[in-house]
Amino acid sequence: MQHILLRGRDIPDIWKLDVYRQNGGYEGLQKALSMKPSEVIDVVKASNLRGRGGAGFPTGLKWSFIPQSEPVKYVAVNADESETGTFKDREIMETNPHQLIEGALICAWAIQATAVYIYLRGEFWDVAHALDERIAEARQAGLVGDNILGSGWSCNVYTHLGAGAYICGEESALLNSLEGKLGQPRVRPPFPAQKGGGLYSEPTVVNNVETLTNVPWIIINGADAYKQIGTERSPGTKIFCVSGHVNKPGNYELPLGVTFRELLYDHAGGVPGGRAMKAILPSGGSGPIIAVNDAVLDTRLTYEDMAKVDSILGSASIIVMDENVDITWVAAKVTKFFKHESCGKCTPCREGTYWLDKVLDRIMANEAQPGDIELIDNVAKNMQGVTLCALGDFAANPIIHTIKNFREDFMQHMKPAEVPAKADQRKPTNAGAAAATTVPGPLEGKRDTVATGTPARKS
Ligand SMILES: Cc1cc2nc3c(=O)[nH]c(=O)nc-3n(C[C@H](O)[C@H](O)[C@H](O)COP(=O)(O)O)c2cc1C
Ligand code: SF4
Repeated sequence: MQHILLRGRDIPDIWKLDVYRQNGGYEGLQKALSMKPSEVIDVVKASNLRGRGGAGFPTGLKWSFIPQSEPVKYVAVNADESETGTFKDREIMETNPHQLIEGALICAWAIQATAVYIYLRGEFWDVAHALDERIAEARQAGLVGDNILGSGWSCNVYTHLGAGAYICGEESALLNSLEGKLGQPRVRPPFPAQKGGGLYSEPTVVNNVETLTNVPWIIINGADAYKQIGTERSPGTKIFCVSGHVNKPGNYELPLGVTFRELLYDHAGGVPGGRAMKAILPSGGSGPIIAVNDAVLDTRLTYEDMAKVDSILGSASIIVMDENVDITWVAAKVTKFFKHESCGKCTPCREGTYWLDKVLDRIMANEAQPGDIELIDNVAKNMQGVTLCALGDFAANPIIHTIKNFREDFMQHMKPAEVPAKADQRKPTNAGAAAATTVPGPLEGKRDTVATGTPARKS
């Protein structure tokens, strides 16, 4: 299949303006400029394109929220890409940058924005410098700046580097950071698309890099063509960032609706050494962890199907763990990340992540106190749905879902006297039973008694 987004893999040097233009580059912008802004929004709406930043919000609908009567409007491109295991936006910006610039300009035309700001995480300084050069070339060619392609419409494009904070990927924190303020989420409403809620209080569309890179293709080929790819509710291709215990980690651009089995075994080459796949984090650290079985492997990767396995597609940063991984260690590691990245603005997230980390440290040191598993489960559940931004939920997920799906791994860290007392609450698996009877001491034998009964690929 020809790539829509990772075209650098099909066309050498497409990052160069002349090569991009020889391959249809900026024809989408030209076509959009010949349409009314509202018609452009209608096409994107009809395509059912959904935001690739994590939430899957319909892109055309988001654009339609912008009040056209306001004279000043902005586009903010979210290139923060801070989610653990996510590395797709970087590849787009490095290998096919003009398609992102073109997509952002089409969005700007559709909402009649006066400027586009591409907000990149601080570590992407090299990507930002290269993008600046691409933007300068486009300006030279009359594609950015004053009187774009002779249309009479002017719009500038700027890059802006953050300081490397995960929370600045959250759209309202991103806007604060762009304004030079502390990168903390804002209280909403007003939302970014509304007057008072966007950049410098002006209505602003915030879209992810991958989302906007789809737009030129949609404008050129039409909404119906786009809907031929993927599924009805999740059309198009998606870049799946695959890492962890697979033979061929990397970015895979595939139609939405591909199954875990196809992605992880046919494309990513399965687990090294033929070991069993134990768990998948489908959306980096922020999404609920999944215990792998045949039904999971046959699940389609779409926004709607992931709910069937009690998880989310998110940014599709898929981290694979084999049978040797202690999932308690995963929960502890991810919790440290969220504790570090919590901006501290609201109490449940600030205090909750601190206490989760503290208790997990003692569980990992095999110094757990009776009731520690219930304690962290309770703390995490009390963080859900009560925080200013979704980071509070993200931090609760690893705890709630690892305890739910991998309780036996936690039990391996409990003192021997604790294990029988908790045995009735554990999942009735053979591995669990083995753990209950064979754990000789806090750490001894831990890896040998981890569940191994997960299936590999179907032949
Ligand atoms: C804590 C947190 C971090 C986020 N990080 C990113 C990020 O790095 N990149 C991104 O595109 N969206 C991120 N988001 C989602 C954005 O808030 C927003 O939904 C997205 O940029 C909207 O673009 P889309 O509609 O194109 O998906 C994050 C959200 C939260 C709560
Ligand atoms: S949930 Fe956490 S990261 Fe989000 S605003 Fe509250 S303290 Fe900050």
